[in-house]
Amino acid sequence: MNKKTIKDIDLKGKKVFVRCDFNVPMDENQNITDNRRIVAALPTIKYLLENNCKVVLASHLGRPKGEVKPEFSLAPVAKELSKQLGQEVIMAKDVIGEDTKLKKANLKEGEVMLLENVRFHKEETDNDAEFAKELAQDCEIFVNDAFGAAHRAHSSTAGVAAYLPAVSGFLIEKELEFLGNAISNPERPFVAILGGAKVSDKIGVIDSLLEKVDKLIIGGGMAYTFFKAQGYNVGNSLCEPEKTDLAIAAMEKAKQKGVKLMLPIDTKVGKEFKPDTESKTVAWTEIPDEWEGFDIGEKTIEMFINELQDAKTVIWNGPLGLFEFEQFAIGTNSIAKALAKLDNATTIIGGGDSAAAVEKAGLADKMTHISTGGGASLEFLEGKKLPGIECLLDK
Ligand code: 3PG
Repeated sequence: MNKKTIKDIDLKGKKVFVRCDFNVPMDENQNITDNRRIVAALPTIKYLLENNCKVVLASHLGRPKGEVKPEFSLAPVAKELSKQLGQEVIMAKDVIGEDTKLKKANLKEGEVMLLENVRFHKEETDNDAEFAKELAQDCEIFVNDAFGAAHRAHSSTAGVAAYLPAVSGFLIEKELEFLGNAISNPERPFVAILGGAKVSDKIGVIDSLLEKVDKLIIGGGMAYTFFKAQGYNVGNSLCEPEKTDLAIAAMEKAKQKGVKLMLPIDTKVGKEFKPDTESKTVAWTEIPDEWEGFDIGEKTIEMFINELQDAKTVIWNGPLGLFEFEQFAIGTNSIAKALAKLDNATTIIGGGDSAAAVEKAGLADKMTHISTGGGASLEFLEGKKLPGIECLLDK
């Protein structure tokens, strides 16, 4: 990485503003249902504490659109973080208000505080300079460790770098190392697996990966737009008829580049969008009217798994079916299990749903790297510049 990290700067005893991505899922009682993003932030926080820093943490949670909404409070995160760190995390009542100012001023070496949700202020997402200045107030260094929000040009992810020397934390460093190496220097064969609902969400990454991979496996909802593009009926399946030209262009580009592009050859269809709906498996060319494709079929699973056997690098982003419903999770789970068994391959899971699927299958520790970024890892794979990285000091 050509950007400075916390190892490249003297931060002993300093007051450090740390942007994390604590945007974690919670249930209706505000219990955290997946603490991976909190755990992933620990190495940086612990390092700062070892260096006697005064640690001021900031994050967003959800999209409260500039309003103070109690259900988006970061207080449950402070509690979980206290548990993980084995020390109290002081929770501020606001972001740039009197309570924060006082707590920041009184913060001692080796103490940690967490600001309220930065998105309680609309200025955050506007990347307002004055707001960024207030965030930076009383701090001496900006450490960005919010990889999941690095694609956002917001006050706390990028704007604050105008006021403080800015370096990355260990999480961003690690994410860039794994994702960056896979993209720029992959051991081959290099296989990408892309799923998810929409071609329009993934077209940038398809286009960019076709320049780099040896094989591209496509599943999930977006496969039906590829079927439609070839003139077949997709019944009630998810489909973007106005994007079929993008699907055709991707298939043509794959041919030109010598990339093996693989689509499902059979699909599990259901009658209705509910967990126990009637279902059956049909060939991709024979989806009946009134039925909806929810998963890849058994023949496809076998074909995809075969194609993965010689892979040395695999990147996976997006589930291959409606994995939230057990009977349609078989494709996604089977691919997760196959990846877990690839001993000689680097396996990288893009964040969001595919990470959740791997976690749910209990296979997270069998993967080389699971990204904490959903949108951010996609944008990185697309080759886009991430504002939260660009703003950091060059080495
Ligand atoms: C994410 O969950 O992908 C990040 O926390 C970014 O959240 P956002 O899409 O609301 O900016």
